[in-house]
Amino acid sequence: MTALVAAGTSCQTSPAELRFPADFWWGAATAAYQIEGAIDEDGRTPCIWDTFAAIPGKIANSDSGHPACEHYFRLREDVALMAGLGLAAYRFSIAWPRVRPRGGERTNPAGLAFYDRLVDELLSAGIKPVATLYHWDLPQELEDAGGWTNRDTAFRFADYAAGVADRLGDRVRLWCTLNEPWCSAFLGYGIGVHAPGRRDHAAALAATHHLLLAHGLAVRALRAAGPVPVSLAVNAGTVRAVSTDPADADAARRIDGLLNRIFLDPVFRGRYPADVLADTARISDWSFVRDGDLSLIGSPIDALGLNYYQPDLVGAAATPNPGPVPYPTGEQVAWHDLPGPRTAMDWAIDPTGLEAVLLRVGRDYGDLPLYVTENGAAFPDHVVDGQIDDLDRIDFLRRHLAAAHRALSAGANLRGYFVWSLLDNFEWAYGYAHRFGLIHVDYATQRRTLKRSAHWYRGVIAAGGIDQP
Ligand code: FCB
Repeated sequence: MTALVAAGTSCQTSPAELRFPADFWWGAATAAYQIEGAIDEDGRTPCIWDTFAAIPGKIANSDSGHPACEHYFRLREDVALMAGLGLAAYRFSIAWPRVRPRGGERTNPAGLAFYDRLVDELLSAGIKPVATLYHWDLPQELEDAGGWTNRDTAFRFADYAAGVADRLGDRVRLWCTLNEPWCSAFLGYGIGVHAPGRRDHAAALAATHHLLLAHGLAVRALRAAGPVPVSLAVNAGTVRAVSTDPADADAARRIDGLLNRIFLDPVFRGRYPADVLADTARISDWSFVRDGDLSLIGSPIDALGLNYYQPDLVGAAATPNPGPVPYPTGEQVAWHDLPGPRTAMDWAIDPTGLEAVLLRVGRDYGDLPLYVTENGAAFPDHVVDGQIDDLDRIDFLRRHLAAAHRALSAGANLRGYFVWSLLDNFEWAYGYAHRFGLIHVDYATQRRTLKRSAHWYRGVIAAGGIDQP
């Protein structure tokens, strides 16, 4: 059993000033490739991140998903840690190449059994399982056949989703089809900083459509399998113009189109935004969209997940951006630094963007239940005498929860909040250099230590809210 080191903070005992609803889903989130390790275990085959990580220079410090947090071997003790925090819900992802090796049609019983055990363990700890079906670990063989630029990948995904639902659909409490399809498409295929590392803006648009088609087909498959509510997690953001100048406002419109509306309009309105089609006509004729696709993509969903980290501040570009930008119209747009403090990722700390996006989604796309499916921050945590006094993370979380509470008070249909992340983990192209966890992981020994923020969060959950920041 992992030794836990108390960070010496007390639980909040007085009533919280900002209370959340009694049935609020207080959660934490992770993703398979970032925590599981065990990349060769029990019949799992490589995914695009294994391949990408093996290319020199792609990942800081040449890190990879091995060993990560070895969660595959430590499932029980990790669930015990969650139970100790008092989590109401846990959002995890299922590794496609564990369940369907090589992306094929054969289900791997050992791979699926791991998630079966995880779900049972969570339920017996009183924690609701929230399962994401795709958090970026595409089986390599499917990438070799074109990946998300190949329409067939969407059908493979739906088939895999059906197989998972058949086994876990009696116990999972919320499905999440895709995690942040913007990152898969624009970072993976547009500028290549994520796997599979392709640099082709037209491919990013084809990938966008096929990811959305995969979502729509999966919604249909999940509905056929049972009554579990279905959602999608997007990194919808607040895009602000640097001034009221019409050229700057137009830059904000373009980026809002390519970050938010390109996903949310088809899902909730069954069509792509006309301005996005016009903005991208120079690089793609969108002929990959076939009859019937949009009605599938627009299949009703039950909830929306929002992953929020920071807003965008943009304006018209007088000169081209110095580096590659993940948008096909990026050369006409300049990104401006947001004022104020930043995290170790150099991301701006601005909780007002969370409040704004929660209210905007409800206003523009309907009153469906919303979950903040990811929110959190990396900071340079220091272990001193076995303790991690991450006051900066506590401040970040408290201020974002206050913003979520303002949105709730203003009418947002917010049902839950998941801290990213439960554990320090493999942060994609940054490797293990940046730590987002409530729980510190010593990768050499796999020892878990609750940070002060974990103790604080346990108090928040117990009190049902926070005090004013
Ligand atoms: C999100 C990802 C998640 C994690 C956080 C920091 O974009 O969904 O896996 O890396 O960023």
